[in-house]
Amino acid sequence: MVNLKHDVLIIGAGLSGLRAAIEIVDTHDVAIVTKVHSLRSHSVAAQGGINAAMSAEDSWESHAFDTVKGSDYLADQDVVEVLTKNAPSVVIENELWGTAFSRTEDGKIAQRPFGGAAYPRTCYASDRTGHNLLHTTFEQAMRKGVKFYDEWFVTSLVRAEDRIMGVTALEIATGKVIGIAAKAVILATGGFGRVYGRSTNALINTGDGCGLALRAGVPLKDMEFIQFHPTGLKGSNILITEGARGEGGHLLNSKGERFMKEYAPEKMELAPRDIVARAIQTEINEGRGFDGGYVHLDLIHLGAAKIKERLPGIREISIDFAGVDPIEEPIPVVPTQHYSMGGVDCDKNGTTPLKGLFAVGETACMSVHGANRLGGNSLLETLVFGSIVGKNASEYAANAEDPDANAVDNATFAMREKIQAILMNESGELGAELRELMGTTMDDDVGVFRDPERMEGALKVIKMIQERFENVSIPRSDDRFNYALVRTLELENMLQLAYAITAGAIWREECRGAHWRIDHPKRNDDRFLKHTLTTLIDGEMKISTQDVNLGQFEVKERTY
Ligand code: FUM
Repeated sequence: MVNLKHDVLIIGAGLSGLRAAIEIVDTHDVAIVTKVHSLRSHSVAAQGGINAAMSAEDSWESHAFDTVKGSDYLADQDVVEVLTKNAPSVVIENELWGTAFSRTEDGKIAQRPFGGAAYPRTCYASDRTGHNLLHTTFEQAMRKGVKFYDEWFVTSLVRAEDRIMGVTALEIATGKVIGIAAKAVILATGGFGRVYGRSTNALINTGDGCGLALRAGVPLKDMEFIQFHPTGLKGSNILITEGARGEGGHLLNSKGERFMKEYAPEKMELAPRDIVARAIQTEINEGRGFDGGYVHLDLIHLGAAKIKERLPGIREISIDFAGVDPIEEPIPVVPTQHYSMGGVDCDKNGTTPLKGLFAVGETACMSVHGANRLGGNSLLETLVFGSIVGKNASEYAANAEDPDANAVDNATFAMREKIQAILMNESGELGAELRELMGTTMDDDVGVFRDPERMEGALKVIKMIQERFENVSIPRSDDRFNYALVRTLELENMLQLAYAITAGAIWREECRGAHWRIDHPKRNDDRFLKHTLTTLIDGEMKISTQDVNLGQFEVKERTY
């Protein structure tokens, strides 16, 4: 009864998924299943740029060192080497495909300084780099004939005989649950920022790939490492790119001081994000912020011409959402959840512990960012590893047996029953209320500074929400375009991830990168120079550890 079948199925149509598909489509039957049209994927929102050592004075080794140091030495150094060595070629590939990178006077791809980098190595397309790259890559996928299932939501991974057999998915337009058999499945669903109430992420970033993997018995890695971008716009939490500081923007407290001199005297505003976010939060907590809890990002001295040329999107966002024109007034900013360093446990080729299942991009944890990602390394990761993981999945599919159609059928029947039960429950808990409670709990208790007692409290609240979720009901039971149902299924994923983040953050009794424990205010390499793995076993999350792949860069104290 299996309705659909492909060699390789990719879940997610952002940059990682598209780039993987382009790699596969010449040799295999590949399809992308995506809950939104590709051009609405969150890659479109990336602003500041993509890192690559392109200039004569820069080198992949310098880029690698900055990345490893930025990661607080938790990144696997062999993976960082792959990322940084391949960086210039993916930038050139996209330039040749048509990405409209900004240019220097002499026509070279322009590069701006970004946090934690020894050289200006962030290539950019004004402040709409993700938008440009996504459109270019999508065009290539269309040109090559990649098949898309737009507005389908994947509800489970089908696992049998210890390998992947395919997925079950909800066709949102009709409400039908359909089985799709596949030899190989690539998870490329992006991050899970919406576990938090305040996030720069789109509403679609609900960690679906991580939830699917967890329930299929695949571990998640380093979930406690959540990146808070230093400059979310106060109120709406929209990203104000690090490129604004790269272009020379200053951070000011309510006394008019450039307070970064107290926290990172050399790098100032261009210290890595974890350090700048903590500095801002400290200024706010100690009463040197503005009323309502924010600081100022001042661009006025850059002048109107530069702001209009390099930061037009930031100007538009500031005017539309904060009523502030950065040419004349400073922008109110506050640290805001932005990125998830953790994700599905996999190696540098995207291979997960489950045969036939691969992961890439923010969904994956290879681990290339360790405890803190440098700005500009995320777009890079999607393209470098999109291609590598696509190749790896192709090779796997070339030698894999056909998937077991019965296993996919059985999983499809089971999923139909599960969804029917949710639709039929007329008087249960409202998902929207549970979601809001989860978001405020994570904002308040698992944020920039982490207190063990508050996190224990958060864990209890999340468990309580999970129990209430067992009785979730939705306001409408019709099949077509039932987005209340989609939001509910997303919430199931997010609750599991909220639990994994918090449990990992309680376990890790040290400060490393973006994870700051107020009761253990130092890094502890003896105990914690380790990745955490969180696995769902018989309904319980279990934490174990994995060694970090060290390499040429010696583990040292991290100062800027
Ligand atoms: O600040 C930014 O433009 C974000 C870039 C990134 O997350 O890499």
